[in-house]
Amino acid sequence: MEKKKPFYITTPIYYPSAKLHIGHAYCTTIADAIARFKRLAGYDVFFLTGSDEHGQKIQQTAEAAGVTPIEYVDGIVAGFQNLWKELHISNDDFIRTTEERHQRVVQEVFRRIYEKGDIYKGSYKGLYCTPCESYWTEHQLDENGCCPDCHRPVQEVSEEAYFFKMSKYADKVLEYIEANPDFIQPVSRRNEMINFIKQGLEDLCISRTSFDWGIPVPIDTKHVIYVWFDALTNYITPIGFLDDKEKFDKYWPADLHLVGKEIVRFHSIIWPCILMALELPLPKMIYGHGWLIVGGDKMSKSKGNVVDPLALIEEFSADAIRYFLLREINLGQDGNFSRDALITRINSDLANDLGNLLHRTLNMIGKFQQGSLIPPQGESGIDASLKADAMETVKAYGEEMEAMQLSSAIKKVWAFVSRANKYIDETAPWVLAKDAGRKQELANTMYNLVESLRIISVLISPYMPVTAERIWKQLGLPKEFSGVQLSDIQEWGGTPGDLKVGVPEQLFPRIELEKEEAPARQQKAAGKKEKAKADAKKEEHPEITMEEFSKIHLRVVKVLAAEPVPKTEKLLKLTVDLGDEEREIVSGIARHYTPEELIGKNVVMVINLKSAKIRGIVSHGMVLAASHGDDMKLLDVDMPVGSQVR
Ligand code: MSP
Repeated sequence: MEKKKPFYITTPIYYPSAKLHIGHAYCTTIADAIARFKRLAGYDVFFLTGSDEHGQKIQQTAEAAGVTPIEYVDGIVAGFQNLWKELHISNDDFIRTTEERHQRVVQEVFRRIYEKGDIYKGSYKGLYCTPCESYWTEHQLDENGCCPDCHRPVQEVSEEAYFFKMSKYADKVLEYIEANPDFIQPVSRRNEMINFIKQGLEDLCISRTSFDWGIPVPIDTKHVIYVWFDALTNYITPIGFLDDKEKFDKYWPADLHLVGKEIVRFHSIIWPCILMALELPLPKMIYGHGWLIVGGDKMSKSKGNVVDPLALIEEFSADAIRYFLLREINLGQDGNFSRDALITRINSDLANDLGNLLHRTLNMIGKFQQGSLIPPQGESGIDASLKADAMETVKAYGEEMEAMQLSSAIKKVWAFVSRANKYIDETAPWVLAKDAGRKQELANTMYNLVESLRIISVLISPYMPVTAERIWKQLGLPKEFSGVQLSDIQEWGGTPGDLKVGVPEQLFPRIELEKEEAPARQQKAAGKKEKAKADAKKEEHPEITMEEFSKIHLRVVKVLAAEPVPKTEKLLKLTVDLGDEEREIVSGIARHYTPEELIGKNVVMVINLKSAKIRGIVSHGMVLAASHGDDMKLLDVDMPVGSQVR
């Protein structure tokens, strides 16, 4: 059997602060989708997450709560593990830095670097931010002399300490970053890091004596090891650094350390220096993703804007949350989280587009063919255009996923979902079903739809593993879903021709916005402005489905009368003939047309636009115009009044 290619992916290990929020879940969800995709693509994946449990802050919090640090972290870490389970995170290991297996590795790493002469004892004077567990130099502080990350006050500390000779490795790390364009992604983060190193790297203080909640320095146990030195080492613990050479050689160097943008510095500078001192190869990629923002701010407990992922999962399902996070936000950029946007996505993409496609398909097979497929035959047995679109989607999706463009990849799948819905409208199976002579045509259509859904279910599985399997099972496909691979959908036609399909079950119920409770609505309103701004920036032209477009009724109308709206410069009141009725509308074209020029013109109008009062006049529709710079022209057409525009 061919040996699978290894793929080692990690998330950061999380601090046991009281509760993880949806921002933390975002990072882990991205990593999970990538890990699942890689498994689907045939890789031997090792996916690691965990908890970062040492440090002064945790010791202080535990003391304040009247428990020992280990009692404190045990409770919280159990909560993390539960959250990852509820979110269907498929990690292969969970590393706790308090575990003995990790402690041994950290001490050994310290010892090896010390023996090499790259760790020395000195005296530390400096500025320390306890919440961030970070040391800063004077010139790195913010304008108020506070921590540049969290903007809280820093403390001056002076103590005997061990130092790691980062300065020795600065040039080598810089050289490496410059020679390996993919090492730090996205490119904006890479440039930041290059500038950071060019300012000069000081040796790093890697031990403390002022508290004891940490891993003891092996050669001097009154010191504990600096929490970042301890934490970064987690990445080599579970893959056998000390005790399983074969496993270690298989998975190291890591393919991807996925981290939030504010900790790229630790991963792309300190970690490479440690690895160089250990004479180990560097990870292939460090990707710094953006933050999830709520109401314009990074989520944090102190700002009071945290969103609890467990509550959201309970209300909307893990798959809906995963879909939203992965589809709505571009990986390298910050993205807005709002309940409103989440509900809109659930309703339009999941309940409507995907849910309807599955439901309509299974319903029709039940009604017209007693729940069974009939093997496709004849010229239209395979719909060539649908097949080509499916195959193109599989290819483009794979390319986007390999490039970590998770949002673009799933958008491609949704374009195909819309395509399949359109295929139903085009082939109108309910018409075929009335004609006994077109039975085979109907059978072909049903086959093509099930085959499309089979492909869709595999493609969405890294994003929505539960939904993907539910679709697979409802289709009645014989293969165990857990064994499905991307190679199963590389070719059209994997659905057995005589498949007996299942009974349709609703995938996602529609969520009625009206049913939302008052406080939630108020919260929504506050976040709405921010969201609108962010959304407008992000997607000036969001994709719409054919179904959405078909809701707009466009018709050719004749302008019967036109007059200026008093006290305005731009507006004209028009009376138009729709063919079967006359209407009044207000249009902002007075700077481009005189009333006389308009009368008698046949123009295109949106006739089902909700009426609106403009300057006291109720406008019942809108005429369409093209604009370019200051120029504007109505869409006038030489077609009879009442003609449909499609
Ligand atoms: N313990 C360190 C990591 C050590 S890795 C060797 C740490 N922990 S953390 O719990 O503070 O953060 C873990 C991850 O969560 C970081 O990558 C961070 O960027 C991410 N996030 C925290 N809040 C976030 C958002 N609001 N949005 C997106 N990610 C966020 O740092």
